[in-house]
Order: sequence, then structure tokens, then C-alpha cells
Amino acid sequence: MLYIGIDLGTSAVKLLLMDADGRIKKIVSRSYDISFPHTGWSEQNPEDWFDCSVDGLRELLAEADKEQVAGISFGGQMHGLITLDEEDRIIRPAILWNDGRTAKETEYLNSVIGKDKLSNYTANIAFAGFTAPKILWMQKNEPELWSRVCKIMLPKDYMAYRMSGVFCTDYSDASGTLLLDVKNRKWSEEMLRICNITESMLPKLYESYEAVGNLKAEEAEILGLSTRVKIIAGAGDNAAAAIGTGTVGNGKCNLSLGTSGTLFVSSKAFGVDKNNALHSFAHADGGYHLMGCMLSAASCNMWWMNDIMKTSDYSAEQAGIKRLGENPVYFLPYLMGERSPHNDPSARALFFGMSMDTTREDMTQAVFEGVAFALRDSLEVARDLGIAIDRSKLCGGGAKSKLWRRILASVLNLKLEVVENEEGPGFGAAILAAVGCGEYPDVEAACEKLVKVIDVIEPEPDLVEKYNKSYEKFRRIYPAVAGLFESR
Ligand code: XUL
Repeated sequence: MLYIGIDLGTSAVKLLLMDADGRIKKIVSRSYDISFPHTGWSEQNPEDWFDCSVDGLRELLAEADKEQVAGISFGGQMHGLITLDEEDRIIRPAILWNDGRTAKETEYLNSVIGKDKLSNYTANIAFAGFTAPKILWMQKNEPELWSRVCKIMLPKDYMAYRMSGVFCTDYSDASGTLLLDVKNRKWSEEMLRICNITESMLPKLYESYEAVGNLKAEEAEILGLSTRVKIIAGAGDNAAAAIGTGTVGNGKCNLSLGTSGTLFVSSKAFGVDKNNALHSFAHADGGYHLMGCMLSAASCNMWWMNDIMKTSDYSAEQAGIKRLGENPVYFLPYLMGERSPHNDPSARALFFGMSMDTTREDMTQAVFEGVAFALRDSLEVARDLGIAIDRSKLCGGGAKSKLWRRILASVLNLKLEVVENEEGPGFGAAILAAVGCGEYPDVEAACEKLVKVIDVIEPEPDLVEKYNKSYEKFRRIYPAVAGLFESR
């Protein structure tokens, strides 16, 4: 049988066709626009996600035996707020995970309701990109639009709804709404009250590997597929990526270098970081995970290369970088504010330490190193919690750079394992589809069979030492300038 994984990302949707043995038959992608209507805001049109996916699916399936397609699942950008009215019309553009407009609402939740209560109800505190503060923002700033809201959903759930007609979500993605009682895997009554919403406005909860329904007749006809095709709930993109790299069960780690950068630690048991610097979310394998998320990771390099250096030849820019561990230039990667660990939507990026002999290579290197240091911030929090991590899987577009991998291995002092299929969320989503269709008994068994490590990047002891020193300096820069970021 064949399984489709849909990775609904921030810059593009990637569609992947996999057979029962985990062989990837084809990958197709379609990009869409993102709009930044104000500094620090970010929005997308959910219709674009769906239209691009359908268009991509047609190409994906062009030469395939469509009778063999058994299931479709998703890994979606998390936290986005999508609102539908009583006739299922989209009320406003989706407010995305890296949108920082909710500073006031986040502050209200953390200070007036209080972090302790939030953590008690949901296992997390409020961060600007989470869904609950966006709901409060919309109620306050767009009351007329809000009065029409009948359904609230997350990005990939909009796709599942259009494809199956079932109003559903999964526990991993729902964890990022700040409306889920993560420990008990149910919507939190207290949070619904705080956000003035009813449970009927929220999707039904499923495990990521559960079938929610079948492909609707209309969509089946457009795609030339059968209505027997199952729609499987899917997961937030980080949980899906973790499945795609085999980061399941207890104490495994995955690093993702996509638009965002995340450090993901899987766990069978529920646990909370007492300072709530790391998110405590449900995992797509039925367990839990802790996660640190930086809002701009590979996107820092894209911004630096495309928008500032005006080049698309990334390899040529990296070729001249020779002096690792000795860079006097530092970069704070906070182009969209920062989530973990600073929780500061008004933070911004900066270069530090340039002199007349600074080269463009130094600055490009500083961008790579700045992202690696910021990921280390999350790793240090995990290490402080007593979590022993000495190796990690790796995925995401940025992780394809050999130079960046090398820098990461030594900055983090981790063995980095490269898997055969680097299509993290798309591959993970296809695995969830296979489990949901009964091809494998559970997610762990599927990962055991389908995920293969093909390379390991070892930290280099002399570089580790040099980067330890540089990291000590890096971590002093943000506190020194934090007060200057507040809105003018
Ligand atoms: C995770 C997060 C991001 C998005 C990116 O909390 O906000 O990783 O899911 O798509």
C-alpha cells in the first residue's frame, strides 16, 4: 500500500509518497506567501495551503497506482489560529506561530492569571505565538470578526477538515494551543473559561496515529482517489519530524533546523520543566516531549543570503569559512522575537563585534553560530533538568549544510545522527498514516523498521572547547541589550 505525508510548513507544503517499507516514491512541493502586515506579525491564507496541497497531490500521484493509496496524514506548522464561521468560511487570515502581536495578552495570562495556574492547567505558560493569547487578541481587537467565530482550528486541522469533513485535531498539536490539559489529554475547562470559549468551538481530540475519517467524495474525485482512503489525525510538525527521525520512546533527542529551530526530547512519562522554559507537550507516539523552540533558525540564513547578501549560491558563501571557533563576530538570531528561553516577542537580531577587518565570511559564520548558540540555550535548560543527552537526530533544510552540522555538533557537544530520509515532518506524517491504516502495530514499531541512521557527525574536542568559551560570551549579549528592545 502507499501512504501520503503532508508537511504543511511556513514557506511551503511538501508532499511525500511512501510505500509500506518506507521507500519514498516521490516528493513534491509548492510554496506560498507569508505576509508581515506589521513588524513582528505574520499571517497566511489557509486557502493557499489547501489549494497548493491539492495541486501538489495531483503531481505527486500522476504516475502512482492510485488504488494503492491507503492513507493521508499531516505534520503541520503549530499554534496558528484559524477561525471559521457557521458556514465554514474563513473569517480572517491565519495568525501564525511566529507572530508576536500578543505581547499584552501573553503578559495578562502569565501575570494576571499567573504562570503557576497556567502550568497547572496546561503544563505550559503563555508564549506570544501560542493560540490562546491570539484568541484573546482577536476578541479585543476584532470583536466583530470574533462574534462570527464558530470553529477554532490549527493549520493541519484545516487540511484534515477540508479533506474528511471531520473537525479534529491531535494531542501533540493541541498542546501548543495552551488550551489542552496536556497531562490528562483533554481540553482544559479552566482555560476555556479564561479564554471565553466553549468546547464546541474546538476540534475533537485524537492520537496522531488514529484515523479520523475518510477522504470526502468531492476531494476523492478531484484527486482520482477512492473514498476508502483514510485521513489520519497527524501531528504538529515537530512531533511529526521526531517520528520521521525515530525520536520516539524515552530520552531521545531531535534537532530541527527549519524556519524555526527546535530541540525535542521524547519521553514516555509526562514531565514539566519547573521554569516552563521548555514546552511540555504530548508526543505523536502516544507519550510526551519537552521542546525548546527558537523562532528564526534556517530563516536567519535565508534572510542573510537572500535579502541582505542578495545571493542564492549558499555553498559559495560557505566555502570561504575556515576559522571555526575563532569568530570575533556574534549574531543574535531574534529576527521575529524569541520564544525559548527568553519568551520575548520584542527581541530583535543583532550583529556584535565587527571591526575594520571583519569579512563577509565572518558574518555568515556568525549567523550559523548564533543559531547554534541559541539552540544550546534550550539544551542547557534540558541539561539543568538532569536530562542526559549525548546524541541527537537532525532534520530540516538548514541541516543539509555540512558546515552548519559541524558547527552544531561542536557547539552542542552532541553526536549528530543523520537519517536516510531527511524529510522530517513529511516522512513522519507518512509513517503516522501507515500506522493509522494498520500497516504497523504502533509508532515505535514503525520507526524501528523504517528509520535508518546513515551518518554520525562527531563533536571535535578542540572546537568544543573553543565554542564553550564563545557560548559564554554569546549568552551575555541578550541580557545586556534586552532593555533596548522594548517597543518604541
Ligand atoms: C513549535 C513552533 C514551530 C512551528 C514551525 O512550537 O512554533 O516549530 O511549529 O512550523
